[in-house]
Amino acid sequence: VRPESGSRPGAAPGASPSVSSSESATGFPTGFLWGAATASYQVEGAATEHGRTPSIWDTFSHTPGKVRNGDTGDIAADHYHRYREDVALMKELGLGAYRFSVSWSRVQPTGRGPAVERGLDFYRRLVDSLLEAGITPVATLYHWDLPQELEDAGGWPLRDTAERFADYAALVAGALGDRVPMWTTLNEPWCSAFLGYGSGVHAPGRTDAAATLRAAHHLNLAHGKGVQVLRGLLPADAQTSITLNLHQVRPLTTSAGDADAARRIDEVGNRVFTGPLLDGGYPEDLVRRTTPLVDWEELVRPGDLETIATPFDVLGVNYYTPTIVSASDGAGDSRDDGHGASDHSPWTGSEDVAFHLAPGERTAMNWAVDASGLHTLLTELHAAHPELPLMVTENGAAFDDYVSPEGRVEDPERIAYLHSHLEAVRQAVADGADVRGYFLWSLLDNFEWSYGYAKRFGAVYVDYASQRRIPKASAHWYAEVIRRGGLPG
Ligand code: NOJ
Repeated sequence: VRPESGSRPGAAPGASPSVSSSESATGFPTGFLWGAATASYQVEGAATEHGRTPSIWDTFSHTPGKVRNGDTGDIAADHYHRYREDVALMKELGLGAYRFSVSWSRVQPTGRGPAVERGLDFYRRLVDSLLEAGITPVATLYHWDLPQELEDAGGWPLRDTAERFADYAALVAGALGDRVPMWTTLNEPWCSAFLGYGSGVHAPGRTDAAATLRAAHHLNLAHGKGVQVLRGLLPADAQTSITLNLHQVRPLTTSAGDADAARRIDEVGNRVFTGPLLDGGYPEDLVRRTTPLVDWEELVRPGDLETIATPFDVLGVNYYTPTIVSASDGAGDSRDDGHGASDHSPWTGSEDVAFHLAPGERTAMNWAVDASGLHTLLTELHAAHPELPLMVTENGAAFDDYVSPEGRVEDPERIAYLHSHLEAVRQAVADGADVRGYFLWSLLDNFEWSYGYAKRFGAVYVDYASQRRIPKASAHWYAEVIRRGGLPG
């Protein structure tokens, strides 16, 4: 079920691509992609323009009480109108690649039928501007914004949504396939399933354990079908991928109970995806534990596992902070501590696991700063799947940035965060991991889902009142890293 080495366009020939032989003096491989990322609903705005209809995030953000301060993505960073300026900024920073996502509701508003050409035109223009600027476009097909009509029909818990995704993938690949060399089917399907249908903190805001697991399976299926569609339409040297937020699960203590809690969270946080994608099927224990909830025989139809295991070229990983868990009797579960740990705490459907905040430095999300998790993630993935190239498709941090009277944004904490995490990537490469690129999250401050505009992840500050962009000190620092092809000092 692993992609065959050599059959992947981007893979080095030979059984196990040797990165060290192509490492540059900086410790990062030659050809390493230095990028930044955004996502459609978080930056585009123009929510009703040119035929776009609501996605689940439009509905959710317009529902009182769902998003902090009642913020919505109606205008966001207005990237839909300002993309030329944003591409010019990317060029100034020297970015080698830009990872963006396509809004399904802009391209195929009802989730069915023909494409809206004006919707596709936006992405054609964006991609052409990137190419003109010498920046590699990396397109994600689905970053959480399902057309509302598809949710009304049943959403991801419904099998048909995976079919609809495959059709949509064909429309986008047909329009952009000749000029986008790297494609990602889904971004963090764990969030779509577990936050969208489990804990309900993300759109569509449902809290239904069975629906969560059904959604997870149909997202996996959509990915597999999507890769098949892309393979059929894209040039042979285009690359396909999926981006996962694999939780770095750590038990709080060495007790058997905590170890068991960590194992179970690894199943619902990670292996529910990596199992069928890379290891031949769903974890048996997960299937056994959840059988009272879900009829797996009915859910996973003959041929599904083969479809899901369709080889892809690169595994994208997003990493922010580790996940610390312990066994719990249901009391004192830190998911409800009001500090925001909940959003990254895997929902389990049970009350027998507690989540803990790591000690030490935290970001504005109250997430612990711990770069060792990124090193472990990359080296463990490489050890488990030595022939699968990896890409850090998101890494970054929110801090309480402000513009100084002199008009500058000084963000030394973000620089320190990025520095330590890039150092972890460099070390993982030195330890043999085949890492092909790094994308900072995010290019711009943007709509941080249920936190709205209250959290700023950008390397570039956005003054939402004027839509003025101000590169933060970290943007200048990152530009220098890109110029050198590695870390200073
Ligand atoms: C992961 C998601 O892909 C992205 O949309 C989000 O803004 C960042 N994490 C930060 O939470």
